[in-house]
Amino acid sequence: MSFKVSDVVMAEKINNSKINAAVRTAKEFIYDDFTVGIGTGSTVKFFIKALSELVDKDELDILCIPSSFESQIELARVGLPTGSLIEESELDIYVDGADIITKDFVLVKGGGGALTMEKIMARASQEFIVIADYTKFPKELNSFPVPIEVLPQAINTIIKPIFDFGGEFRLRYGAGKIGPVVSDNGNIIGDVHFKDTYDPFVMERQLTLIPGVIENGIFPDDVDRIIIGHPTSSDVVFTRSEKEES
Ligand code: A5P
Repeated sequence: MSFKVSDVVMAEKINNSKINAAVRTAKEFIYDDFTVGIGTGSTVKFFIKALSELVDKDELDILCIPSSFESQIELARVGLPTGSLIEESELDIYVDGADIITKDFVLVKGGGGALTMEKIMARASQEFIVIADYTKFPKELNSFPVPIEVLPQAINTIIKPIFDFGGEFRLRYGAGKIGPVVSDNGNIIGDVHFKDTYDPFVMERQLTLIPGVIENGIFPDDVDRIIIGHPTSSDVVFTRSEKEES
């Protein structure tokens, strides 16, 4: 397999951007005794690493609640104290990545297939912070298909209702397994492709009302703060209090 130097440079720029957003969030927005909801994805992995470094230096004392097996494994690997939503139903803060962020701060999430837990946790939290690299913002709403989690028996019955809303449902296939991607909850993960843009508030509700659709990855008005990482810096591009004041 051959690779271009420009691809390696680009990947390094993006990784550094993720690190800058993650480290800033861990240092600036996480306080002692917080119950911290931990999202899923490569940016969150850097956040976990930043948290573990602060905890190891005795600068932070927290409890982490993972949104996926992947994050649970990573938290265990770095030795952070971990609980579950069953014991801790309210989170002080939830920190997660996003697949895209629009100029109006709508998120599409679930590229990692953990969208159901991610939405439960984002909405069970006092504050929801999104950390992302600069390539994710701003993006057009329909530039990324909407991930959905579907009951296995419903993968055919959902196709027509989704089509009637202007979307095309496709099962998601990944590596390491024959057949569609199965979520941590044992359901099927698929993606809804939209040719045209749509109203995120309406579409979020419409998709979830289809019998068999467990959750979708549209987060229309959930985020409280967005931190965008760049190769050598980071920006807070949105805070809810500013939106409410304006
Ligand atoms: C996981 O299901 C997604 O919602 C992730 O938050 C998203 O895919 C971001 O991942 P990266 O941080 O790897 O880009």
